[in-house]
Amino acid sequence: MDKRGRLWLFVATAVVLIGIIGCAPGEREVSGTPTFVGSNECRTCHAREYQGWLETLHSQGIQDPEANPKAVMGDFDVESDVRTFSLNDVAYIFGVQWKQRYLTETTDSAEQGDFLILPAQYNLATNQWKPYEAEAWQTRPFTQKCSGCHATGVTNDRLLGVEMNVGCEACHGPGSNHVEGEGRERPRSIVNPAKLPSDIGAMVCGRCHSRGSDRESNLPFAVNYIPGEYLFNTFTLLETTDTEHFFPDGLSKAHHLHYIDWRQSAHALHGVTCMSCHTVHSTGVNNKLQTKLPGSTLCRSCHEMNQPTRIHAIHSFGSCIECHMVRTAKSAVEGDIHIHTFKTVSPAETVADPNVRNSCSCHPASAQEMQAIYEQTVGAAGSSATRELTPPQTGGS
Ligand code: HEC
Ligand code: HEC
Ligand code: HEC
Ligand code: HEC
Ligand code: HEC
Ligand code: HEC
Ligand code: HEC
Repeated sequence: MDKRGRLWLFVATAVVLIGIIGCAPGEREVSGTPTFVGSNECRTCHAREYQGWLETLHSQGIQDPEANPKAVMGDFDVESDVRTFSLNDVAYIFGVQWKQRYLTETTDSAEQGDFLILPAQYNLATNQWKPYEAEAWQTRPFTQKCSGCHATGVTNDRLLGVEMNVGCEACHGPGSNHVEGEGRERPRSIVNPAKLPSDIGAMVCGRCHSRGSDRESNLPFAVNYIPGEYLFNTFTLLETTDTEHFFPDGLSKAHHLHYIDWRQSAHALHGVTCMSCHTVHSTGVNNKLQTKLPGSTLCRSCHEMNQPTRIHAIHSFGSCIECHMVRTAKSAVEGDIHIHTFKTVSPAETVADPNVRNSCSCHPASAQEMQAIYEQTVGAAGSSATRELTPPQTGGS
């Protein structure tokens, strides 16, 4: 058996053992600390959620190329100076939408085995190989850099988790008591994020759709966090002054900063959370980004534009999203990720840094010219990118 086979045999045995212990005859005591059982266990009773989840990216990011050769999107036939490895080195493909990275097996970093991320990524919008941490790749194991957000059931004594990808229990918490429970015990033994207070509910998503560090281990993800808990007991969010991940004025530059953006918005103050706008067990309506309604219809479902004034009067036809969720951030190529502060970005931001997109970018005129027009229509102090809102309590310090 190859190394990967042994690794998964270990994981499978552990899962089976947990299962056997949990299911011992006569053993119906379900009040103990629940453990992670894996998404497969939820399938029979929740077929609808399970099938829908299979369509979403949460279940698809990491895949075995042997089991699913079609998942390989990088062009391994083309010669490339950047790509220094072949498909034979790849244990898992990693990513399906913007970019694909590749995991190779290593046994160096942990007894249970681990993976390294190979030094090139394939950008899907441009069909190009690009270097990825080419200098340092051998020092960056999956379990130290990625697993907390790309696997489920990660704890400090099991950094590989019980399942690759974002499984049911990543949002619902460990499910053994729920699977074992009976009658009225069932619903009480599992977390439903929609029934949590809105700020605690948003943390369920925010633990991965953000950046920061675990206070105990210093790892870049919340290691032992369980849905329903207060995230900031153990995790500190990145400050928006971090220039590697944010432009000046706190505009996001990197991907997975949605939660940090959102916390600065009026939506956060009024309990409009990730779940208000996004579906979780389906790809959404006409939309792979899982929004509940397509395009600006989503915004109009809550916002009435009865009396369009100023900028809205000129753009009554306009897309709310293009102006209020500018694509300033980057996953694979510049401008593929939407900012989630819902504040418009004035052309002055582009004047200050040409790499920042602004809400008026549709216009061919220069940023300077557009800023003059913006000030006439919105007013110099109109840019809500710089307008102060009182943010909810931070997890800092
Ligand atoms: C043996 C059947 C069974 C299995 C297996 C099962 N569930 Fe359930 N689940 C139920 C029942 C029954 C309910 C209660 C439905 C109701 O009250 O409407 C429920 C309710 C839920 C709820 C809603 C709870 C609430 O408070 O609203 C969630 C979330 C949930 N299950 C998730 C899961 C997850 C995740 C798994 C896998 C770890 C799982 N279930 C496995 C039967 C099951
Ligand atoms: C990305 C987070 C996430 C994942 C992954 C996820 N869920 Fe959910 N689930 C939620 C949220 C949020 C809600 C409540 C809001 C909603 O139903 O849209 C919910 C609600 C539920 C409910 C209650 C449904 C109802 O109508 O009250 C069940 C049952 C459930 N999930 C089962 C599952 C199962 C089974 C899986 C895995 C196949 C799964 N979920 C994966 C976030 C998630
Ligand atoms: C355990 C980490 C984790 C949790 C918890 C989580 N996500 Fe995600 N989410 C991811 C990852 C990773 C991806 C990208 C998967 C891929 O493409 O490889 C993703 C993708 C998505 C996408 C698809 C759009 C896209 O292209 O990125 C949406 C929408 C989304 N998440 C919303 C949510 C919401 C809403 C919640 C909370 C109810 C949530 N997520 C909870 C990690 C997480
Ligand atoms: C703090 C959580 C977190 C950590 C740590 C993290 N990611 Fe992600 N990653 C996400 C989320 C959330 C998404 C999807 C949303 C987005 O891209 O904005 C994502 C998206 C991706 C994608 C794009 C998927 C696609 O379908 O195009 C790749 C590839 C990826 N991550 C690789 C990695 C690698 C490799 C590591 C470790 C070096 C890592 N990530 C560490 C949260 C994280
Ligand atoms: C007010 C509605 C709203 C809220 C609240 C919201 N989103 Fe979004 N989200 C959107 C829209 C609209 C898009 C872009 C969809 C499109 O272009 O079709 C989007 C896109 C995304 C994407 C795809 C990648 C990107 O950024 O382009 C992810 C992932 C995502 N949201 C996660 C989250 C998370 C996590 C939260 C909570 C912290 C959240 N969203 C809160 C409306 C919302
Ligand atoms: C679920 C309902 C809901 C949805 C969907 C929604 N919003 Fe909101 N929005 C609110 C609420 C509530 C507030 C806070 C009260 C207010 O200012 O009206 C708000 C506030 C705002 C603000 C700030 C207003 C201010 O005074 O600073 C902007 C901008 C905004 N929303 C834009 C959008 C955009 C763009 C979308 C679509 C991507 C959207 N909203 C979708 C409910 C929603
Ligand atoms: C051409 C760009 C543009 C479009 C299109 C646009 N907005 Fe705005 N919006 C602005 C600007 C600029 C402001 C004023 C500065 C700010 O608050 O960000 C604003 C302000 C707002 C506010 C704050 C309250 C107010 O009236 O001052 C809300 C809420 C809002 N917009 C929602 C929407 C919704 C919903 C849509 C889609 C139906 C939309 N906007 C379309 C640029 C736009």
